[in-house]
Amino acid sequence: MAEPFLPYGRQTIEADDIAAVAEALRDDFLTTGPRVEAFEAAFAEAVGARHAVACINGTAALHMAMLALGIGPGEACIVPSVTFLATANCARYVGAEVVFADVDPTTGLMTPETLAEALARADRPVRAVLPVHLRGEVCDLPQIAALAAGAGAVVVEDACHALASERRFEAGDYRVGDGRWSAAAAFSFHPVKTIATGEGGMVAVNDAALAGRLRLARSHGMIRPAGADPWWYEMAEPGFNYRLPDILCALGLSQLRKLPRFSAGRRALAARYGARLAPLAPHVRPAGTPDGSAAVLHLMTVLIDFEALGRSRAEVVEALRQRGVGSQVHYIPVHTQPYYRERYGNLDLPGAAAWYARALSLPLYPAMAEGDVDRVVEALGEALGL
Ligand SMILES: Cc1ncc(COP(=O)(O)O)c(C=O)c1O
Repeated sequence: MAEPFLPYGRQTIEADDIAAVAEALRDDFLTTGPRVEAFEAAFAEAVGARHAVACINGTAALHMAMLALGIGPGEACIVPSVTFLATANCARYVGAEVVFADVDPTTGLMTPETLAEALARADRPVRAVLPVHLRGEVCDLPQIAALAAGAGAVVVEDACHALASERRFEAGDYRVGDGRWSAAAAFSFHPVKTIATGEGGMVAVNDAALAGRLRLARSHGMIRPAGADPWWYEMAEPGFNYRLPDILCALGLSQLRKLPRFSAGRRALAARYGARLAPLAPHVRPAGTPDGSAAVLHLMTVLIDFEALGRSRAEVVEALRQRGVGSQVHYIPVHTQPYYRERYGNLDLPGAAAWYARALSLPLYPAMAEGDVDRVVEALGEALGL
């Protein structure tokens, strides 16, 4: 019997997740009901934030953060080029310009050095810096926050890959979302992420006023003043409908309870990959791990010297597929997208180019068995002729 195809990522939905959704469906509220606040409270506790505001996806989470922080035209946001489109686009949604920062070619992360270089290039006031914890590896936030503060900017973490990740710094231990070095952290519950709600997102913050503005942005900018008539609402600024329905919050709550198990599973699989990939060095290496990392990896990205091996990435992706192994490239540097090239011209970001030339993400999700890792690495060795 053919072995099942291993995608690069996938959700883990179990019987109790389905039961939780079914229970929500039988309840009175399909949109905003009691599970929204319950999910927000449980999430805030899980990441160590004072407030968490649920929304319809990670893209909306980033957009709401921009709106709630009042970022707009005439201002700039610094975004690493190796990320998903949404990190950059959220700045454009509010009329701000994007200054793309380069990344470390072995970790794919924005560093204090690449941030400093981007700050020096900005031709207008920088209001926000958006480090992306790519793959679940945490950026050097203490130094990034210091540089941002020096430039008068806030830090908004794109934590879509990094739920449950941690990193030890000299300045202290950090759990992604606890807000020690940022104004806000945006999460995604897209199916390949650490927990899944289908579409789903969250913004974690410590400032109550900011949480209030996020809630306004999430639901049309509507407020119901205390003591007003029961039908009364007012709008000072137009907002959006970015609400996460009760049905999906039921799934989120159920998934969140499994976060320790999912995280342990990802950690064990990543360790297995590390051991199994070692013989393929130096042509294949796992993407770099920053000092003090205690990451829960969302992506198992390896860096492959395709040139030295005389094989194109497309050939390798196809050879893996034929052996039942999915793979993906994270990411095409955003500054090379036609929209951004048209807007900002051709930028030279050598770290992002070097990362893109070598990166390939292999299957990683908690339902994989350790034997699946062996199968993936074997298939990769064959695909590369190693
Ligand atoms: C780094 C990063 N930022 C933002 C997003 C947007 O999240 P969503 O797909 O939930 O809108 C994603 C998800 O794909 C992502 O990987």
